[in-house]
Amino acid sequence: MNQPIVFSGAQPTGQLTLGNYLGALRQWTAMQHDHTCIFCVVDLHALTVRQDPAAFRERILDLAALYLACGIDPERSVIFIQSHVPAHAELAWLLSTFTMMGELDRMTQFKDKARSHAHNVNAGLFTYPVLMAADILLYGTHKVPVGEDQKQHLELSRDVAVRFNGLHGPIFVVPEPLVTGGGAARIKDLQDPLKKMSKSAEADLAKVMILDEPDAILKKFKKAVTDGLGSIRNDEANQPGVVNLLNIWRAARGASMEEALTHFSHNQYGRLKVETAEAVIDLLDPVRQRFTELRSDPAELEGVLTRGAEQAMERAEAMMQRVLSALGLPLNPRRFGPTQGRS
Ligand code: TYM
Repeated sequence: MNQPIVFSGAQPTGQLTLGNYLGALRQWTAMQHDHTCIFCVVDLHALTVRQDPAAFRERILDLAALYLACGIDPERSVIFIQSHVPAHAELAWLLSTFTMMGELDRMTQFKDKARSHAHNVNAGLFTYPVLMAADILLYGTHKVPVGEDQKQHLELSRDVAVRFNGLHGPIFVVPEPLVTGGGAARIKDLQDPLKKMSKSAEADLAKVMILDEPDAILKKFKKAVTDGLGSIRNDEANQPGVVNLLNIWRAARGASMEEALTHFSHNQYGRLKVETAEAVIDLLDPVRQRFTELRSDPAELEGVLTRGAEQAMERAEAMMQRVLSALGLPLNPRRFGPTQGRS
């Protein structure tokens, strides 16, 4: 059965936040039933910031375990580590020759990161979206479920695919971004609700981590920044903190904004904070428990990742053969076999 192909990934740059869960991972798990899903731990992307090798290795495995704990089923979906499939870096190089400097220079995430990592503005940070395009295009991806912040990168992937296809024939599928509705695509920082909730935020109180204990979650929501207006309304411009809590509550409870406003029509901020915390605790508790089990069985995790890499590699190599041929590069018979793909 030819189901649409879904690809997505997250960086092992620290523990994942509630924003990653609501904006991406939860949506991934829901798509497994009627799509061919490929989920990747994008460790090569994470090298654009300095990593301590020993801690990095653990974090990569943590993230893979977290994918499973969130409900990614390796019997249905491919789950693998980006650096296990060399074609990602290879295709990124080829696609970089189809990407314009001006396009990369416009990326808001690059500008933000260049500002926050001013001591290490490496070339990888600049070409980061090209590697992302390679991730996506390598698998003939139709849909890419992401949070709002990744939309610009997705647009670039589409532009690169269209440019390549225009010159060399219809090799790549032009992917569609899929951004969750219901306010989950842009979960905000609890201390500064004008910013997105980011795993790299320094303040502990700013972000809820997927693996936070219930006490920590309650404390963070109780200290969430709101406003002095004393009413609970859907007024993003004047009440970004309140709207963020409403969005989190309704994403966790599966409710609409209307239902949320009726539920909280008492206008008590204290109750809004505690009930949002409770909804998030209910949502994340099973994930944390499953994660702990999975991390205590390294052999199972390793087996899943080895199988995932094999499945990903098979797909990626088929695409690489087509891309290299289309560009006029002679195919290596050691890699692709002596008879196939000779054109
Ligand atoms: P990353 O690791 O920053 O985030 C993983 C996913 O979580 C989403 N997200 C959010 N959604 C809602 N609210 C938030 N506050 C929030 N913060 C993060 C992100 O949009 C993302 O979907 N470049 C990507 C990783 C990547 C990728 C790819 C994604 C590399 N190659 C190919 C899709 C396809 C990133 O840094 O995500």
